Amino acid sequence: MGDILNNAFIEDARGRLIVALDLPSVVEASALVDALGDTVTFYKVGLGLQLGGGDRFARDLKQRGKRVFLDYKYYDIEATVQNAVARAAEMDIDFLTVHGVTGILKSAVAGRGNSNLKVLCVTVLTSMDAGDIAEMGFPPSVAVEDLVLHRAKKALDIGVDGVISSALEVSQIKQQTEGKLMVVTPGIRPAGKDAGDQKRVSTPGAAIKAGADYLVIGRAITQDKDPKAMAEKIVLEMAEALAER
Ligand code: C5P
Repeated sequence: MGDILNNAFIEDARGRLIVALDLPSVVEASALVDALGDTVTFYKVGLGLQLGGGDRFARDLKQRGKRVFLDYKYYDIEATVQNAVARAAEMDIDFLTVHGVTGILKSAVAGRGNSNLKVLCVTVLTSMDAGDIAEMGFPPSVAVEDLVLHRAKKALDIGVDGVISSALEVSQIKQQTEGKLMVVTPGIRPAGKDAGDQKRVSTPGAAIKAGADYLVIGRAITQDKDPKAMAEKIVLEMAEALAER
């Protein structure tokens, strides 16, 4: 019985791990997907791979039975965003990001229509801290968390499905949106790994315990000498956290 319960948590955790394919070419991305095999079911294709054949690769991933998150962070006039999001919905893409500006969020929701695509709002990049938002022109009285929460609540009102947020803001977002907004969390570093350019980092277990629905993990897996073993270790850590929350 204990094992069956464990397996349920492990499979639940596996579905919540999204590996960021931030690699220079689809040849390398494809080799990594092969190496990860059944350990990983969900992949993020971002701007770094887009011009290296990422769009076509996203279709291939769908054909291989994987879920796909297109992280193109759209920011354009409303008609263009609506069209672009509608094309992603036609491709059966699972998750897609847009910036947290009202007009963009509304047109993304219109483009998504009744499809299965989940539109995610980028609140504040996890590579940004107080100094960065001050430099963008926000007064010093505005904290990163305030901006994240403001954008999250706006996204919910508009009908967006979820937000991208660091693990540090997850519990507050869940609280203030009554758990109605899905939270996808990048900036994850297993204990002992270098934070690199990410400024608001958390471990996989802590992010899940804080209430994150999905974790996006790139370099901690893709640059490990044994990506499959590292992914499996992370899935186990997530499963333990799910069992405890
Ligand atoms: O390698 P690492 O785990 O830091 O990668 C995190 C991924 O999540 C990157 O692809 C990055 O673009 C993405 N991301 C992020 N912060 C956001 C939105 C997306 O780090 N707010």
